[in-house]
Amino acid sequence: MRKTVIALITLLVSMGALATGAMAFGKDSLTMEKCSGCHAVQEGKMARVEEIRATPDEWGVVIDRMARLHGMELKEGERDALLKEICETQILSPEELEKVSYLNLNNNPQTVEAPQSDEEGQLFATCVRCHSAGKIYSYRMTESAWAKIRDFHYYMDPAIDGQMREMKWYDEAGKMLASLAKSHPYGKAWEAPKANLAGSWIILGNEPGKGDYRGYASIKADQNGDYTVMGTLNFHDGMSERFQGEAVLYGGHALRTKTQHNSFETRGAYAFTNGVIQGQHHFPAPDFRTSTSTWYPADGSARVLKVTPSFLLAGETTTLTLDGVKLPQVKATDLKFNGGNVEVLEARRDGETIIAKVAYRGAGAARANLEVKNLNTVPVTLADQIDHIKVTPGLGRARVHGGVHFPAEGVQFEAFAYAGDLLLGPVPAQFKLTEYVTREGDDDLAWVGGIGKNGNYFPTSDYGRILTREYKTEGTGLVKVQAEYERGGRQYAAEADLAVVPPDYVPRVK
Ligand code: HEC
Ligand code: HEC
Repeated sequence: MRKTVIALITLLVSMGALATGAMAFGKDSLTMEKCSGCHAVQEGKMARVEEIRATPDEWGVVIDRMARLHGMELKEGERDALLKEICETQILSPEELEKVSYLNLNNNPQTVEAPQSDEEGQLFATCVRCHSAGKIYSYRMTESAWAKIRDFHYYMDPAIDGQMREMKWYDEAGKMLASLAKSHPYGKAWEAPKANLAGSWIILGNEPGKGDYRGYASIKADQNGDYTVMGTLNFHDGMSERFQGEAVLYGGHALRTKTQHNSFETRGAYAFTNGVIQGQHHFPAPDFRTSTSTWYPADGSARVLKVTPSFLLAGETTTLTLDGVKLPQVKATDLKFNGGNVEVLEARRDGETIIAKVAYRGAGAARANLEVKNLNTVPVTLADQIDHIKVTPGLGRARVHGGVHFPAEGVQFEAFAYAGDLLLGPVPAQFKLTEYVTREGDDDLAWVGGIGKNGNYFPTSDYGRILTREYKTEGTGLVKVQAEYERGGRQYAAEADLAVVPPDYVPRVK
């Protein structure tokens, strides 16, 4: 208890001294109004706030804590306004943010974090126990701000010495924070570039379990500098989706969207860099699908952007779809494969795309470049045959429904084809679940529900005792995921594991 009180006092006292520099928050800014009462401003700099850069998502966690624990008043709309203002100078750079982008959306990312060095192994042992490494790497701080993170933990979690009893956490944390100050320094305040997203965009994307799509978006700016977006996505299988909603750009590069797709709610997180918007939108429960796309300015110069499928097998005739901007009329001789013996049998423009029939006449695996007229080239992989398929994630983790604030989280499994070690691309395998017998009378399969043929798993049970199940446990368990695929008269099979677990009741500690 005494340690906690001392820690809090140290924190409050240390909100004082800071170095000089340009003013990030003007006298009339909302940040000045809301935060300066507790965070001293000296020589134009606000203590703590201007010692940290972080992702918009982690700034959201901090602002929420100021309200939740310290009594800061937050009126309707102020949270969003604060986030936008703070991110103008206190956000990560696009490169820094990209490394932790798997935490951008609450889409149950299956990313497995693993230490890349002995030093990082030490950090994982000391710090990546209650939250992800990504949460830590979402921050850049001055040396003194990193050092305060130790007291912050004693104050947030007074039991931490006991929880981390296999080490002297106080000492180990000190070492790790000193090392983070070197590897993840504050550097300097971010200067948000002037960015304007208003205009027409071409969208090229993929939704696992559903396929590739092409679409259009129109983005308009409103008087607050926020955006409204609307558009259509046309899937290669003939289905289409209309969407509309709002978007906010943080720090000139981190775009966050809230859109309705055919009346289904989605959240999106994108990076706006080099004039291109790239990222994901996610359909929460009960859909639980994540779609990845790139948005290109529709008024750019003529160019090819994407070819689907991205691999050819010897002995097959393949119909390719080429997406791009202002694609020209073509005939077969306008398409050339540089590298590899590929014959173009037919080619024509169909609306906005080019459709081509091609056949790989060569032997062996190779990378080729497809050139259309005198435009740019796009890569295509060539192989004799598919040797095997592989399922990702190798171990998927789903969470059962835990009430309105903790909706269920699913997993999208995907099958990829390989020629030897060479990744060819995704293939539409058929999925099913089987029992993974880990104990006598193992009955998990009977309780976790089924998987979609396309690999989309979503738990159907609620967190709570199932009275008719042995030991009255909930609908959780460990099962096998089987994928089967047939091509050219050959059968391919692969498997993965699926763990269905209880809800994550502390979502801010990602
Ligand atoms: C009512 C007092 C109060 C107000 C108002 C307040 N804070 Fe804090 N702030 C605290 C206290 C106490 C701490 C130390 C404990 C903690 O981190 O929760 C703190 C810590 C912080 C930290 C350091 C977190 C870290 O990781 O070390 C940041 C950043 C911060 N506040 C940002 C803000 C911002 C931005 C605002 C305005 C939107 C704000 N605070 C408003 C009391 C306040
Ligand atoms: C015993 C569990 C535990 C361990 C071990 C732990 N953390 Fe945390 N950490 C937390 C919790 C809980 C929070 C979130 C507090 C909140 O926002 O309510 C947190 C939040 C953070 C934050 C965000 C700060 C903020 O202002 O919100 C950072 C950065 C962080 N931890 C870094 C570290 C580092 C570095 C280590 C190792 C030295 C570490 N953590 C070890 C539990 C832990």
